Amino acid sequence: MAERPRPVPGPGEVLVEIAAASVTPGDAKLRAGLLQTIFPVSLPCIPGRDGAGRVVALGTGVDYAVVGDRVCFVAERTVQGSYATHIVRDAHSVMRMPEKLSFLEGAALMHAATCAWMALMDTGKAQAGQRLLVHGGSGAIGGMAIQLGRHLGAWVAATCHSRNRDYVLSLGAHEAFAYDLNEGWDRLSEIDLVLDLVGGSLHERSYPVLRPGGILAWLIASPFRDLSEQYGVRTVQAHIVDKPEANAAVVALAGQGVLRAQVSRVLPLSRAAEAHRLIEAGQNSRGRIILEP
Ligand SMILES: NC(=O)c1ccc[n+]([C@@H]2O[C@H](COP(=O)([O-])OP(=O)(O)OC[C@H]3O[C@@H](n4cnc5c(N)ncnc54)[C@H](OP(=O)(O)O)[C@@H]3O)[C@@H](O)[C@H]2O)c1
Repeated sequence: MAERPRPVPGPGEVLVEIAAASVTPGDAKLRAGLLQTIFPVSLPCIPGRDGAGRVVALGTGVDYAVVGDRVCFVAERTVQGSYATHIVRDAHSVMRMPEKLSFLEGAALMHAATCAWMALMDTGKAQAGQRLLVHGGSGAIGGMAIQLGRHLGAWVAATCHSRNRDYVLSLGAHEAFAYDLNEGWDRLSEIDLVLDLVGGSLHERSYPVLRPGGILAWLIASPFRDLSEQYGVRTVQAHIVDKPEANAAVVALAGQGVLRAQVSRVLPLSRAAEAHRLIEAGQNSRGRIILEP
């Protein structure tokens, strides 16, 4: 923990007093230097993508928020992040939160839900009546993808650890397959869209379950053999970008109760390092760890 000058909102920006910041696997990868070629970090850098809190000051010309607004936000990967007491954000990255959403839920929502939204809507072109398989259904993004898939009217199956089977079913999955028990998700067929949030061997094993013309959308950048041509399917990386339209869509869906943000545990901000260790050890599931300043 270190003292830094409180940021000052420039024209069109607001100052947010942070009540909750979420911890993502990407934060840990970035901090460990694993993404330096794509997202170069220069130190000192405050980590953290997501957060929620209250607007406490306005820059000039702000017409999208007032002091006191409860907001959630997405921060850039490599500038000032959300593991802090304050942050400056702009109109494109701040969303007013529905009343029913707590700060914990607001922080847990944004990155996980927008990733799921972009993967399903933009990359996967998911539609009602389709068959969807989510690898990593008990993770933060997987949990959102299950809920979103159900909302769209898709049939949804998911893979997870056996201890998380009931959780995954409670999110709306029609079927859950435990990877530790080798339950046979690979006997599925005619799947329209596989969302691969795990990678490794799961990626290659997923081709045969797709229908011809189906889509294998992935978020994990591990090396893989692209077998699209052999199986007559498309393999596409889900591109995660800062997209105000996605922010607005997921906040609206959370306000309607369609998306429930999942919080796995809450730690004080001073224990951010412990949160990263839990994630790196694969010991976090069922949503986001939230840090409270
Ligand atoms: N490239 C990008 O732009 C981008 C963007 C966002 C996220 N990502 C990546 O996407 C991944 C998922 O993100 P997240 O935030 O959802 O992570 P998360 O909350 O940590 O969830 C990961 C889940 O993977 C599950 N899992 C592990 N091994 C599995 C297996 N063999 N079969 C099925 N499930 C398995 C775990 O389930 P159990 O707990 O049940 O074991 C865990 O809950 C991360 O690696 C993240 O870095 C990439």
